[in-house]
Amino acid sequence: MKNVLVINNLRKVYGKKGNMYTALNDVNFEIKEGEFVGIMGPSGAGKSTLLNVIATIDTPTSGNIIVDGKDIVKMNENTLSNFRREKLGFIFQDFNLLDTLSVRENIVLPLALSKIKPSLIDKNVLDIAESLGIKDILEKYPYEISGGQKQRTAAARAMINHPTLILADEPTGALDSKSSTELLQSLSDMNESENATIMMVTHDAFAASYCKRILFIKDGSIFTEIVRGGSRKEFFQKILDVLSTLGGGLSEM
Ligand SMILES: Nc1ncnc2c1ncn2[C@@H]1O[C@H](COP(=O)(O)OP(=O)(O)O)[C@@H](O)[C@H]1O
Ligand SMILES: [Mg+2]
Repeated sequence: MKNVLVINNLRKVYGKKGNMYTALNDVNFEIKEGEFVGIMGPSGAGKSTLLNVIATIDTPTSGNIIVDGKDIVKMNENTLSNFRREKLGFIFQDFNLLDTLSVRENIVLPLALSKIKPSLIDKNVLDIAESLGIKDILEKYPYEISGGQKQRTAAARAMINHPTLILADEPTGALDSKSSTELLQSLSDMNESENATIMMVTHDAFAASYCKRILFIKDGSIFTEIVRGGSRKEFFQKILDVLSTLGGGLSEM
């Protein structure tokens, strides 16, 4: 399997001389096509920083971020915005839907500048809405739907253009347990059936147990990683075991 993401000697230092904080310290890892990777670690470990520099929302201090063979650290703003649109899909904790657009319009947003035929777009929307269980709410507006439906709309938007890499930061953070489970099952299905490559930051061991591999970050560095072998339940237990050795206070995670 080819590498979708390669992170080399990644560092992120915030602040200026005299008041510097190293949020990421020499991080190295790879994600292969079709992987579903979780990023876990105590509060303040650097999880969001890591996701944000890969998402090109923030810039690293040094190191390489290679997506689909290209180093995004070296790209200029023009190239970057095309890159973001074509190669990345985003799912955030707070959904980030546009209130003035219907569910259908929110989902097709990433295709706004594409040259795909409208009839084909319609078909793609229906397919993805069907698999996420939101086909019946396509004409509704965000204020008319539940949190779980909002997040599945966001997931559909993240996947509509079949991005190289889907980035999710605490996607279940604002959901009740039933909606969380539905979303995680959907992400897992997309990963299995479409071979979607997903990197998900979460502090929640239950959410993480849907991943196939988990990287644990502590104090800006990778502490350890575990790979799912058996059932989700066994993996869940394994995650709890690592979290207990990780320290940093489970309660604040
Ligand atoms: N813009 C910023 N300026 C200064 N420090 C920051 C900034 N963003 C994050 N940090 C610091 O970097 C560390 C890692 O933050 P973050 O990546 O948000 O952690 P996590 O998502 O794992 O909780 C924290 O100590 C945080 O205070
Ligand atoms: Mg965070």
